[in-house]
Amino acid sequence: MKIAVLPGDGIGPEIVTEAVNVLNALGESFEMETAPVGGAGYEAKGHPLPEDTLKLAKEADAILFGAVGDWKYDALARELRPEQAILGLRKHLSLFANLRPAICYPELTEASSLKPEIVAGLNILIVRELNGDIYFGSPKGIRTATDGLFPGTREGFDTMRYSEPEVERIAHVAFQAAQKRDKRVCSVDKANVLETSQLWKEVMTRIGKEYPDVELSHMYVDNAAMQLVKAPKAFDVVVTGNLFGDILSDEAAMLTGSIGMLPSASLDKNNKGLYEPSHGSAPDIAGKGVANPLATILSAAMMLRYSLGKADQADRIEQAVQKVLAQGYRTGDIKTEGCKLVGTREMGEAVLKAL
Ligand code: IPM
Ligand code: MG
Repeated sequence: MKIAVLPGDGIGPEIVTEAVNVLNALGESFEMETAPVGGAGYEAKGHPLPEDTLKLAKEADAILFGAVGDWKYDALARELRPEQAILGLRKHLSLFANLRPAICYPELTEASSLKPEIVAGLNILIVRELNGDIYFGSPKGIRTATDGLFPGTREGFDTMRYSEPEVERIAHVAFQAAQKRDKRVCSVDKANVLETSQLWKEVMTRIGKEYPDVELSHMYVDNAAMQLVKAPKAFDVVVTGNLFGDILSDEAAMLTGSIGMLPSASLDKNNKGLYEPSHGSAPDIAGKGVANPLATILSAAMMLRYSLGKADQADRIEQAVQKVLAQGYRTGDIKTEGCKLVGTREMGEAVLKAL
């Protein structure tokens, strides 16, 4: 099995190193090949998603991705910015289903900014559509307005759009995920305002009928943002579009104590996938050895489960992570009174030892 390793920028290389060490410790024979991506791709090859990197990603059975982005690339043309690497990979590889679990480990209830009783035992799954919506809809651009309130002035514009088949396929992912969990799907939209959402809601309702064992509810995105902090445990699976999913998954992440704990999977229709922590490149702490590698290590576990058919190895990693938390090891983002404060390396070592 071949794994493409794309560390990227900022803390990406540090956290990916720890996940690679964990994969190497499993006693499997993975072939791993590393390639530059994001700002690192731009520095090495003049493009955030160099041709060779894309080729490697296409050939591999799975992709382990760190993070991309750094303020120092903010002045580059949009198509050369690091973020285009992850957007390009999602698009070129048709990775349309983004699974972002938000689990609050019992040891970390104190690290959440919410009251412990609100988050203790939290286990929700955000299923975010990843190939469509206002992220990719055309036309988009900056132009001189010919109509509207201020004709003759510059205006920015993007297009929110979803086709029925796009909604259908993500609906199936969400309902099937729910069948393996608490059998509840909440579809989040803004159907009171947006036509795109109106169609989304209709399709969700229609596909939902194929899954009579799963309870479907609908919620407007503003209300969902509120309910997520009010009573997050009321959710099981949340399915939503690309933009709303981007925002709500960061919010859900914080319920768990730290976004540094959350893995993610981005899958195509055959369960080939890209695995990355839900957090970003954190350039402010890059190279300092303080970043939390657990989200990336847990992403490697998701990779074993969803793309490599090694659920037993995934369980081993997840249990090892739980063990180090129980042992009191904490990086700065999840530190609590009386914990063993460690850096990226030591946290990775602790997981290896627990394994
Ligand atoms: C994410 C990130 C990306 C997104 C950025 C880096 C393009 O925020 O994976 O959630 O907006 O999808
Ligand atoms: Mg995001």
